[in-house]
Amino acid sequence: MKWSANFRAWHWLHAAVILGLLGTVFLRKTFLSWRTNSEILIQKLSGFGIDITAEQAKALAKAVRAPMWEWHIWLGYVLVALVVWRVLLFFTQSGRRNYSALKEENLHKKAVKAGYLVLYGVIAFMAASGLIIHFYELLGLAKETAHDIKEVHELAYNVILIFVPLHIAGVVIADMTNEKCIVSDMINGGER
Ligand code: HEM
Ligand code: HEM
Repeated sequence: MKWSANFRAWHWLHAAVILGLLGTVFLRKTFLSWRTNSEILIQKLSGFGIDITAEQAKALAKAVRAPMWEWHIWLGYVLVALVVWRVLLFFTQSGRRNYSALKEENLHKKAVKAGYLVLYGVIAFMAASGLIIHFYELLGLAKETAHDIKEVHELAYNVILIFVPLHIAGVVIADMTNEKCIVSDMINGGER
């Protein structure tokens, strides 16, 4: 079999968790943005004759956002487990199959597979930096340090944002052209 059940389970769970994490970031930056929502709160409340300060509006908007953002942390813990799982998979045939014969591949394939390895590095960084920002007090870190790490966490997020649509478009195009069944192989395991 091309992909063991173990590897396929990892791939699809990992895909779902990454898409979920991207979803929480999307909500944080759009519908649940505290900047937008604190403006709405100030305006609507003033329509009811209640005046609140910008600080109070910010606190309210952040309170509305908080239960959604818990999902970022929970999915984050699952991602940490998925990183460990992927490392263990490197000791299996499916986990190594994309990287064992790199020399014989054409330039495009080499680039795709190098891209996967870069992504793995970034994902591992996201998992580690995410845990550090979340537990910065427990780790005895200054708030400013945690903030700086968050900035890098947010910057590295762009790599994932670029990888995901490229990857999905890439496998769909491959499936329609010279690698028929590449997608269903990742579903049913494929032939050896
Ligand atoms: C939802 C639509 C998706 C489809 C249809 C899909 C499909 C595939 C397929 C067919 C492969 C095998 C490609 C090959 O042989 O080189 C693959 C590999 C891979 N996918 Fe996806 N994928 C999806 C989403 C994702 C997402 C969201 C991620 C996470 C960022 C992801 C990460 C990976 C990685 C890292 C590999 C390389 C596995 C290895 O190390 O060999 N995929 N995917
Ligand atoms: C692929 C995985 C991840 C992506 C794409 C991602 C993305 C992001 C982004 C873009 C931000 C900045 C949000 C903003 O300020 O607008 C952020 C913040 C954060 N992330 Fe992640 N993250 C990932 C994984 C993790 C993990 C594994 C954890 C921890 C378990 C984590 C914990 C945090 C925390 C604590 C913050 C700071 C939130 C705050 O300042 O209130 N993230 N993440």
